[in-house]
Amino acid sequence: MLSNIHKNRTSNKAMTLFVCFLAALAGLLFGLDIGVIAGVLPFIAKDFNVTVQEQEWIVSSMMFGAAVGAIGSGWMSSNMGRKKSLMAGAILFVIGSLWSTLAINPLMLISARIILGLAVGVASYTAPLYLSEIAPEKIRGSMISLYQLMITMGILTAYLSDTAFSHTGSWRWMLGIITIPAVMLLIGVFFLPNSPRWLAAKGNFRDAQRVLDRLRDTSELAKIELNEIRESLKIKQSGWKLFQNNINFRRAVFLGVLLQVMQQFTGMNVIMYYAPKIFEISGINNTEQQMWGTVIVGLVNVLATFIAIGLVDRWGRKPTLILGFLVMSTGIGILGTILHMNIQSLSAQYFAISMLLLFIVGFAMSAGPLIWVLCSEIQPLKGRDFGITVSTATNWIANMIVGATFLTMLNVLGNALTFWIYAMLNMVFIFLTIILIPETKNVSLEHIERNLMLGKKLRDIGQ
Ligand code: BGC
Repeated sequence: MLSNIHKNRTSNKAMTLFVCFLAALAGLLFGLDIGVIAGVLPFIAKDFNVTVQEQEWIVSSMMFGAAVGAIGSGWMSSNMGRKKSLMAGAILFVIGSLWSTLAINPLMLISARIILGLAVGVASYTAPLYLSEIAPEKIRGSMISLYQLMITMGILTAYLSDTAFSHTGSWRWMLGIITIPAVMLLIGVFFLPNSPRWLAAKGNFRDAQRVLDRLRDTSELAKIELNEIRESLKIKQSGWKLFQNNINFRRAVFLGVLLQVMQQFTGMNVIMYYAPKIFEISGINNTEQQMWGTVIVGLVNVLATFIAIGLVDRWGRKPTLILGFLVMSTGIGILGTILHMNIQSLSAQYFAISMLLLFIVGFAMSAGPLIWVLCSEIQPLKGRDFGITVSTATNWIANMIVGATFLTMLNVLGNALTFWIYAMLNMVFIFLTIILIPETKNVSLEHIERNLMLGKKLRDIGQ
């Protein structure tokens, strides 16, 4: 009997891990599609003879698609469920990848990038939401961070594959190879259970109980969780209506928007999109060295994400975030200073690169994963779809703004001032984290929701 219980527990744990891993695969595709374009662009520019403006369009059309995808998936995941939304995302990934491989002119490529953007939007919305609703509270932070880990692995894989294919110049392969993980995701999603919280929200308590029974250690734990979910479903309004009538929900939506603005204005994507350019500014003019430097950036991004996975449920969200912003501010601030002093020596170059990598470590160990974690935790169940739609769309819009202003900032303000501005923003974020961001470690989503709805201060809703 005892060994049976033990066996059940082990298989339920394995099941939970499998489910979380599969959902996180959506993150891998997100990363692949963000990362791949850097290496593809020079070859497309030659083959299609595109203008600089068309190149900008090829890059940013994906972010545009992602913002639209995130907005659409709020409706989709609330009506069709998280599982079917992920399936739709996977189908879009397959279509977009194939379409981009077959592109015969820039317009076709831009349309493929918009389709991929829609897929990324759906994935970036649905996967963390689904994970937060599936994972047991003790490991919820690490499970959502696993999703971020997959994003970083996607970016790194794309950088590596770009570097590998760059010798032959076959950009179609760079884009086409992404079809393989897209098909894997599509197949895997069939095996995922529906989210118990979505099932309960649809009044389907029996299936919700069944899913929880398969995922939790004991059926008692599953029952307690379902009861908590029932409690949180008692608030009648949902989405937009709740937003109009309930100030506490508006506070949660505001917090989600702020968190995503903070994540993007750390300046991380400046480095993701323009790493080779930054190496060039720092005095590294050899293209091959720039390519490999970019791969190292991707690798450090992956490795430092493990720090977050280790810390998030132990140290908690808040101290990790504060440390991360401090590290980022230091890294990018000193980088600005080195550029300002304009020292040309080799040791200055190495120092500049190590500061750039320090910045990456700061992001990957904190804001990268933790913002997604927090955004999926702070919204009340009745308004979760709406709240996360708004915060995810904010992520992509802010992402677009940062990407589209960097080169202009360099031109108008100069290299040093541009980096100093990001250093200052990161200092401001430390202050905002202290006064506004809650600690949500080890508390259930329903407990956070109760505190929010009672009108507790935002920074106290996790207590
Ligand atoms: C961010 C992306 C970023 C990536 C880098 C994600 O959390 O949302 O904008 O490119 O991390 O690892």
